[in-house]
Amino acid sequence: MENQAQPIQRKKRALSCIQPTGIPTLGNYLGALRNWVQMQDEFDCAFAVADLHAITVRQEPAKLRQQITEMFALLLAIGLDPERSLLFVQSHVPAHSQLAWLLSCNTQFGELSRMTQFKDKSARHADNINLGLFAYPSLMAADILLYQPDYVPVGADQKQHCELTRTIAERFNGLYGNTFVVPEPYIMKAGARVRSLQNPQKKMSKSDENVNSFISLKDDKDTILRKFRRAVTDSEAQVRYAEGKDGVNNLMEIYSAVTDKSMDAIEAEFAGKGYGDFKNAVGEAVAAELAPIQDRLQQLLQDKAQLEQWMRLGAEKAACVAARTLFKAQKKMGYVMLK
Ligand code: TYM
Repeated sequence: MENQAQPIQRKKRALSCIQPTGIPTLGNYLGALRNWVQMQDEFDCAFAVADLHAITVRQEPAKLRQQITEMFALLLAIGLDPERSLLFVQSHVPAHSQLAWLLSCNTQFGELSRMTQFKDKSARHADNINLGLFAYPSLMAADILLYQPDYVPVGADQKQHCELTRTIAERFNGLYGNTFVVPEPYIMKAGARVRSLQNPQKKMSKSDENVNSFISLKDDKDTILRKFRRAVTDSEAQVRYAEGKDGVNNLMEIYSAVTDKSMDAIEAEFAGKGYGDFKNAVGEAVAAELAPIQDRLQQLLQDKAQLEQWMRLGAEKAACVAARTLFKAQKKMGYVMLK
C-alpha cells in the first residue's frame, strides 16, 4: 500500500492578556484565567500581563511594579506552565508599542468612540481622558495580531475589542496584502459574565468601590463566605434560574462554573432549602477552588529571582515571535527594512 504523507497539522494558537490593575476577581478567574489553563493542552498558547494598558488610568509607580510581579506570579500559580506556553510581560516586548502605532493609523476615530469600555472608563476618570485610553483597542489589537493566534480567550466584556481587532486585521490585510491571521474571540459559556454580588446588573470588577461586590482571588475563606452571605438575591427564596432573578442567576452561574453542575442539578440540590444554605455552598465551593492557588502564589512570591528568570525567558521567546510579525507589517506598509 502506498504510504501517503499526512499534512502536518499545526496546533491552533491562542493568545490572551490581563491587566495588572489590582488583584484579579473571581470574574477574571472564571471568565478567562481558568480557561487559559485548560487551553494549554489543546492549543499553542501565549499569555501576557498587559502592563502598558494599565497606565491608561493613573497608576502609582511602586504599586504598579508590585502588581506586575504579582500578576505574573498569579499566572504561574493558577497553573500556566512557562515551559509549554509563552508567558510574558507586555512592556518587555517593544514590538507591542511599535505595531500599535501602525495599527492606530489604521483604526478609525468613529470605531474607537463606540467602544463601551472607553465610554465607561472616561465617565469614571473624567479628569484623565487621555489619548492612550482612547487608543487602547489599537494596542490590544497589536498584542493579539503579533502572535498570529486563531483564538482569543476572553470574558464577554472584551468581545467588542476582539471584534475591532478583526476589523483592523481585515482592513490591514485588504490594504497591504495578507499579513495577519484574523482571530476569533473564544468565550466559554460558563463564567463568561460574572456579575457584581451587590448589583447583578453590572459585571464583577476589581475597580468597584464596594468591596462586597467582588471576590478577590486573595480573599480568605471567611471573607468569601461573608461576601456571598451578603450577596443580593430576591424575596422569592427559591433557587431557580429564571428571568428577573439576576442575583440568584449569577450565584448559580458561579456555582455551576466552579462545580461543573448543571442548572437543573443545582435547582434539585437546593429544592426546599433557603438562600442561606445555597449561598453557603457557593462560598464553600469558591473558597475550596481558590485555596490551592493562594498557597502557590505565596510560595512563588518568596522567590523573586526565579520569577524574574521566568519573565526573562518569556520576554526573549515572545520578542522573537513578535519581531517577525512586526517586520512583515512594516515591510508591507512600505518601510525601508535594514537586514
Ligand atoms: P482585564 O484585565 O479587564 O480582564 C482580564 C480577563 O478577565 C475577563 N473578565 C471577566 N470575565 C467574566 N466576568 C467578569 N466579571 C470579568 N471581568 C473581567 C476579561 O474579559 C478578560 O478576558 N483589555 C483586556 C486586556 C488585554 C487583552 C489583550 C485581552 C490587553 N490586551 C489582548 C486579550 C487579548 C482587559 O482589560 O482585560
